[in-house]
Amino acid sequence: EFIKLDMSATVPFLSAGAVEKLEEKALAARMALEDGTCKGNDFIGWLHLPTSISAEFIAEINETAKVLRENCDTIVVAGIGGSYLGARAVIEALGNSFAWLANKGENPNILFAGNNISEDYLAEMTTYLKGQKFGVINISKSGTTTETALAFRLLKKQCEEQRGKDMARKVIVAITDAKRGAARTTADKEGYKSFVIPDNVGGRFSVLTPVGLLPIACAGFDIAELVRGAQDMEKVTAHDVPFAENIAAQYAAVRNALYQSGKKIEILANYQPKLHSMNEWWKQLYGESEGKGGKGIFPAAVDLTTDLHSMGQWIQDGERTIFETVISVENAEHELLFPHDEENLDGLNFLEGKRVDEVNKMAELGTRLAHIDGGVPNIRIIMPRLNAYYVGQLIYFFEVGCGISGQLIDVNPFDQPGVEDYKRNMFALLEKPGYEEETKAIKARLNG
Ligand code: PA5
Repeated sequence: EFIKLDMSATVPFLSAGAVEKLEEKALAARMALEDGTCKGNDFIGWLHLPTSISAEFIAEINETAKVLRENCDTIVVAGIGGSYLGARAVIEALGNSFAWLANKGENPNILFAGNNISEDYLAEMTTYLKGQKFGVINISKSGTTTETALAFRLLKKQCEEQRGKDMARKVIVAITDAKRGAARTTADKEGYKSFVIPDNVGGRFSVLTPVGLLPIACAGFDIAELVRGAQDMEKVTAHDVPFAENIAAQYAAVRNALYQSGKKIEILANYQPKLHSMNEWWKQLYGESEGKGGKGIFPAAVDLTTDLHSMGQWIQDGERTIFETVISVENAEHELLFPHDEENLDGLNFLEGKRVDEVNKMAELGTRLAHIDGGVPNIRIIMPRLNAYYVGQLIYFFEVGCGISGQLIDVNPFDQPGVEDYKRNMFALLEKPGYEEETKAIKARLNG
C-alpha cells in the first residue's frame, strides 16, 4: 500500500486545465532529474539513494548504533538544518510522545544540540548531561558550521572529562565529508567511528544517509523499514511513471498551479503532534530549495487541532493567499475509547464508546470543509499509518516532489546561496580571522 494524494479540493479554486498545463513540465522536470540535465545536477545523489542502500550498509549503521546504545543512556545529536531536522522528524514521528519522561533504559534519550547558539540552552544541557552516560553524534557536511562546531567542542570536552578519553572515543561518532572540514580532521585525529555524507547529497536531502539513519537507529527504530518505504516510493515516482500515477509530479504540479493563481503560502497541517518536527523538516526542504530569485511558495506549518485555537482564525478568514496541505494519518497506533460518565457533567456522553481517533477524524473533516468554504484550497496526503515504512515513503515523496517543483519555478532547488549572508555578517562582527575587511565595513555601517 502507498500513501495517496487527494487533490480534489483544489479543483474549485483553479481554472480549468491549470494542473494539466503543468503536467508535461512536471514530467520533463522529473526526467531532468533522471538524466541529470536539471539545474544543480551535482546535487542529485539523493534521487536513487534509497535503492542504492544495501543491507550491509544498514547493518553497519545498526552495529554503530548498538555500540552507542550499549554505552549511553543519552545521545546528543549535534547538527543544524539538514544535519538534524530529518533525524528529529523521524524520531518524533515514530516515538512515544512521553518516552523522554518515562525512559526505562530500553532506549537512550536523543537530545539535539548545535542547532542554536543559546548560552542558556547549552548551559542547561551541560548541567543535565552531568548525570548522564552520554555519547555524541557530530553531524556536519561542511564540518565547519559554527553552531554545530561550538556545541561539539563543549560536548567533546565534557564527554572526555566525564567518561574518560577511551570511552569518549567509543561513544563519539562523526558524520561528515570524506576529506574536508574540521569535523573530519577531529574524527581522524581522535580515531572516531565516522560515516561519510556523499558529496552529491545536500543537507536537506540527506535524511536517508547516515545523517538521519544513525540517530534514528540509535533511538531504536527500524531503519531497514524506513529505507524500504523510500525504496518503494522511489519506484512509483520514477521518471517513467505516468502523471496520473506519479503523486510526486502531481503534488509539484498542483502546488505550482495554485502558486500561479496567487496562492503564495502553503500551510502544511497535521492532526498528530508527533508530526510537528516533520513540518519543520518539510519547511526547510521546500523553503531552502525554492525561496530564491524573488520567487517561491512560502512554506508554513500548523499542528492541528492545537493551532485551530490560534492560527485557525487566520486560515479560515485571513488574506486569501494560502492553500493547505494536510498529512492525514488513517489509522492510530493505539486504541483509546471515550469512557461513560454517569453524571455526564461535561455533556460528552454522546461520544461514549467512540475512539478518540474518530473524534479527531471528524475534527479533520469538519476543518477541511470549513477551510474550503473559507476559500482555502486543500491537498490531502493520506498515510495509512504512522510507522517507519510509511514515513520512509513520505520523506522520499516530498524530496522528489521538491526536486520537480523547484524546476517549475526555474530555480536551482539544490543550492542555498542566501544562507551565507548572515554568516558573513556574524563572522565580521566576531572578528574571525580572514574577515578583516568585512569587520571594518560592518563596524563603519553600525557606527553610522
Ligand atoms: O540543507 C542544507 O544544505 C543546510 O541546511 C545544511 O544542512 C546546514 O546549513 C548545515 O550544514 P552542515 O551540515 O555543513 O553543517
